[in-house]
Amino acid sequence: MICMASIVIADTDKEWVAKLKEYFEKYQYEVSLVDNGKKCQIALANKKHSAIILDFSIKDHSSISVLKYIKINCPSLRVIFTLTNLAELEEIGLSKSDLKHLGVYDIVEKPTEPEQIFKLIELYNNPTLWNKIERTGETKNEENVDEPDDNFDKISSKTFFSGNTTIYDIYIRLKQDKYVKVLHRGDVFDQQRLDKYINEKNVEFFYFKKEDRILYINFMNKLLSKVTNTEKISQKSQASLTKTLTDKYINEVFTGGMNPRVVEEGKAICENIHGLLARSDDMKKLLDTFLEMEIDEEGQSFLVSFFSIAIGKELNWVTERSVQTLGMGGMLHDIGKIKLPDNIRNKKFSEMTDEEKEIYKTHPQLGVELLQDFPFLPEPVRQIVLQHHERLDGSGYPHRLTGMKIFPMAKVIAIADEFVNQLVETKMSPVEVLNQFIRNEELMIQFDSNLLRSFLKSFISNNKKIA
Ligand SMILES: [Fe+2]
Repeated sequence: MICMASIVIADTDKEWVAKLKEYFEKYQYEVSLVDNGKKCQIALANKKHSAIILDFSIKDHSSISVLKYIKINCPSLRVIFTLTNLAELEEIGLSKSDLKHLGVYDIVEKPTEPEQIFKLIELYNNPTLWNKIERTGETKNEENVDEPDDNFDKISSKTFFSGNTTIYDIYIRLKQDKYVKVLHRGDVFDQQRLDKYINEKNVEFFYFKKEDRILYINFMNKLLSKVTNTEKISQKSQASLTKTLTDKYINEVFTGGMNPRVVEEGKAICENIHGLLARSDDMKKLLDTFLEMEIDEEGQSFLVSFFSIAIGKELNWVTERSVQTLGMGGMLHDIGKIKLPDNIRNKKFSEMTDEEKEIYKTHPQLGVELLQDFPFLPEPVRQIVLQHHERLDGSGYPHRLTGMKIFPMAKVIAIADEFVNQLVETKMSPVEVLNQFIRNEELMIQFDSNLLRSFLKSFISNNKKIA
């Protein structure tokens, strides 16, 4: 077996370190042991590692100094922070949140089993990559499974794709909490078996476990990056698959939170949206496919991301990297809504009481607070989340910023967001909505006219006939 990764264990507890080392080496990890902070920094400077298990109590460069060193010099390193008692942190005036700001991914109280720490590191390293799935070469029989509905997520059977290997266990739902596992992870993918369920049993959805959602996202990202600029898949299918992928991504962020893998997959989705736009020689046809899609709250995130990237493409200050930031901002701009009470989140803004509106208006701030714990997320994404409801004339929220004081990328998202809101509310075609949008004087003073021009250009540059 090939050596998978190397880790550093920085701890003075010899017995615990020996146990950990033995456990990781069993899985072909290369393990470096250090018993003080200085040696730890030297080990990190000399070699690229994928993770560190850092104990709070190490001395001679404290663990906090090591964290600061890591944050600057190796920010992608996965840090598992161990301590015997959380109260130790409080004693030096630190909280869990402070550690997260310093780049700590997980905090584990000792004593614990090496297996728990191993799982935390593995979750980040390999199983989230679809091509690391072990192939069995067989196709096992169906199997009944009794598990709560809450453990599953679904995908329409029309937008279901797999490679030659089944990447995650695939289920159909019989009734509440009752499923049949129709294909097993690692088995040869059997399309005929799925077709049988679609054609004979009218199965509309296939299910997978929520814990496998990141695998699905990883696989679809790779698949979509390959189909751009090929005729293997129609533009309509590509648009619909990208939308489904974005929906699942938003679900993953909402329920599972952010980690470095999730951030990377988000960037890959933005690349794929970019690819979708680049391929579209007929923008009108592409926009019409959006009308056929069922757009719910998560679907709006896809569209905001799509139109933000479309605007970004027309702006000379937007580099390839900032297109990703715009796209991520578009996907995550409303993440703060998850913290709103259900009765407000599920209500139309126009139907809210004044008091409810004030609570609703806290969602940009709530979003930033939620993202604060993820130091690996680019800072501009947080600024976009915070300012996406600010308006040029100062009529926006939360800080009633005006003109130049608003972060430029937030202005782009603001246009895309307002446009998509109207698109969803009026159910008119994107071109009709755009026409109304630019004729509405009240709206015109709220948005940057240069950006609006770029937005218009994004509609016509790919297809001269659209106007
Ligand atoms: Fe919003």
